[in-house]
Amino acid sequence: MTAVAFVRGVSSSFEQCVTARPPDPPLNPELAATQHAQYVAALERGGYQVIAVPVDDDLADSSFIEDTAVVVGTRVLITRPGHPSRRHEVETVAAALTSRFPLHRVRRPAMIDGGDVLKMGSSIFVGRSDRTNEEGILAIAAIAEPLGMSVTSVPVARVLHLKSGVSALDDGTLLWHRDACEREVFDGFEVLEVVGDDPEAANVVRLADGGILVAEHHPETAALVTGKGFTVATTDVSEFARADGGLTCLSIRVR
Ligand code: GLY
Repeated sequence: MTAVAFVRGVSSSFEQCVTARPPDPPLNPELAATQHAQYVAALERGGYQVIAVPVDDDLADSSFIEDTAVVVGTRVLITRPGHPSRRHEVETVAAALTSRFPLHRVRRPAMIDGGDVLKMGSSIFVGRSDRTNEEGILAIAAIAEPLGMSVTSVPVARVLHLKSGVSALDDGTLLWHRDACEREVFDGFEVLEVVGDDPEAANVVRLADGGILVAEHHPETAALVTGKGFTVATTDVSEFARADGGLTCLSIRVR
């Protein structure tokens, strides 16, 4: 099966993204669009067929498309994002995915942001965060467990999403920052600790060819991952980082 990545270009209202602190200087939609095009090119070089979902200039955060859908085996769960301003993002994404996957829906009061969902082979870890609640986690389990996958609820308190501070290098190895969650959650997996003050340094994308895409502003992560034997590519996503988003947030990947 061809590996596919769904992306959504940058909204002209990008400067209104939801952020924990007001960015100073304000966010720059043109710079973000340039970085987004480079991110797409990096995904393509890494073996993904990239499919672009139409841009919506009214939805500031919509380039963070990962939050709108969770791929579970051959199925896709269309989420109900945790922040009310982001709930309208899902319909265009569902329309783009519906011809390829059986779609499932998350119903109120459940909330899920895809950024809270970390898949490691048949193990799915889901952050219980400000954006994803227990009902949302149960909705994922209802699809995943009949397919033989396990779902583990992970308390997340110090970062926006679980994957704001942890991500997979392969099905058995992950990058982890202490602010993401307790390390013991991942007993049985190989955990590489990312040190430093920025948990997003542990957010990387697995490319379809087995390489790892790392944010250009985290050279220490690139060195750590290279030292582990992975081929590393880098791209500049600094403007998205200022909007509280990471590399994984910018695509829905199906390998
Ligand atoms: N700006 C990304 C988010 O808060 O969802």
